[in-house]
This record gives sequence, C-alpha cells and structure tokens, in this order.
Amino acid sequence: MSIPNPEIKSSVLQKRTTIILLALGLASLSLACGMLFNAPVAFRQRPLFPGQDQPTGISNGERIYFTGVDSQGRRIRYSGGPPYGGMMMGAYLACVDCHGPDGRGGLHTMHMQVMEAPDIRFAALLGEAEEHAGEEHENNHGDYTLEEFRLAVVEGKHPDGEPLSTDMPRWQIGDQDLADLFEFLKSLP
Ligand code: HEC
Repeated sequence: MSIPNPEIKSSVLQKRTTIILLALGLASLSLACGMLFNAPVAFRQRPLFPGQDQPTGISNGERIYFTGVDSQGRRIRYSGGPPYGGMMMGAYLACVDCHGPDGRGGLHTMHMQVMEAPDIRFAALLGEAEEHAGEEHENNHGDYTLEEFRLAVVEGKHPDGEPLSTDMPRWQIGDQDLADLFEFLKSLP
C-alpha cells in the first residue's frame, strides 16, 4: 500500500478548487444572462412615452397605429387575434402589423400561417359600407362613421352586426384614442 505523497494530494485539491470555482463562475454567468434577457420584459411594462414628451410631428392616431401604445403611454390591450398573436402569449400587436404601413392591408405570413388583412383606409371602409347599403341592412346608409369604426375595432363586428374573423383582435381602446385613430385613417392617401 502506498501512501499518497502530500504533493500529489495538494495538486488534486487544487484541481478540485479550480473546478468548483469554474462551476461557481458559470452559475453566476448564467444568472447574469437570465437577468439580461429578462430586462426587456421589465422595460415593456413601463410606459413607452410617458406624459407629454411624445415624439413631435406625429399625431396621436398615427402613433397608435404604428405602436399600439395609447395616449397614456400604455400598450392597448386586446383579446383574440391569430394564434400566437395574443397578449397572453407575450405578443404585442399594432394595427400596422396586419394592415400595413399604408393601411392597405394585404397578404402576409404570421407564424407560418397566411393571413389576409383588408384595406382600412377610410375610402376603402366607405366603399365597403356603400356596397352593403341598400341591401338588407336598413340602418346602414352607405356612410362609415366613428360608431361603425368602434364596432369593428372594439367589438369585432361588421356594420350589420356580423362578427369579423377572429384574426382581427378586439381592442380595449379609449374613445378619444379611437377617434384619433379614425382621423389618422382618414388622412391616409
Ligand atoms: C393580427 C392582425 C390584425 C391586427 C393587429 C389588426 N387587424 Fe384589423 N383586421 C384584421 C383582419 C384579418 C380583418 C378582416 C376581418 C374580417 O373581414 O372578418 C380586420 C378588419 C378590420 C376592420 C374592418 C374592415 C372592414 O372592411 O370592415 C377595421 C376597421 C380594422 N381591422 C381596424 C384595425 C385597427 C384600427 C387596428 C389597430 C388598433 C387593427 N385593425 C389591427 C387583422 C388585424
């Protein structure tokens, strides 16, 4: 039986300490990474444009269209929308994501699914309403008012009360913000 020589023993000990230190280092590194990746979540919960210091030159309606953030600086909540596009899944959608930067809508792919969003420039909405006017819908006179817009955006209904496809989220948006958004759509060429 050989008694391990103390020098060898201490080198084994040294190796062990190195391994333990390495493990500790890795653990704290992954902790730091976790904190880094979680940071945007904390950031998202803060108002994006608190108070008055909103970017200048952009109307409230336009800003909402592109960011989904209301005049209080909060994300506008919505329910429904396409699978994986729900707020419960951590997604935040804005009108622009589906109806496009020019409001003309179109076909696009969202999470491997093809979806078609309509043109929602005011002229298109008016045209749509006119098409249905005079048919069986008596209370639709070929006009497209803020109330019809509210029905679509908030309640997810066509002017005749028929539900819109569930691809269109239902938005919990305030009256003034809704009116501003409507004005923005009217301003689109
Ligand atoms: C996830 C995609 C998506 C987002 C985001 C979205 N929409 Fe839609 N929207 C749709 C789809 C799809 C339809 C068509 C529904 C149908 O015809 O049944 C629609 C329909 C509409 C309509 C009715 C159009 C018509 O011809 O009657 C309006 C108005 C509208 N959206 C406004 C908005 C506004 C304003 C926002 C932002 C607050 C918004 N949408 C965000 C997908 C979306």
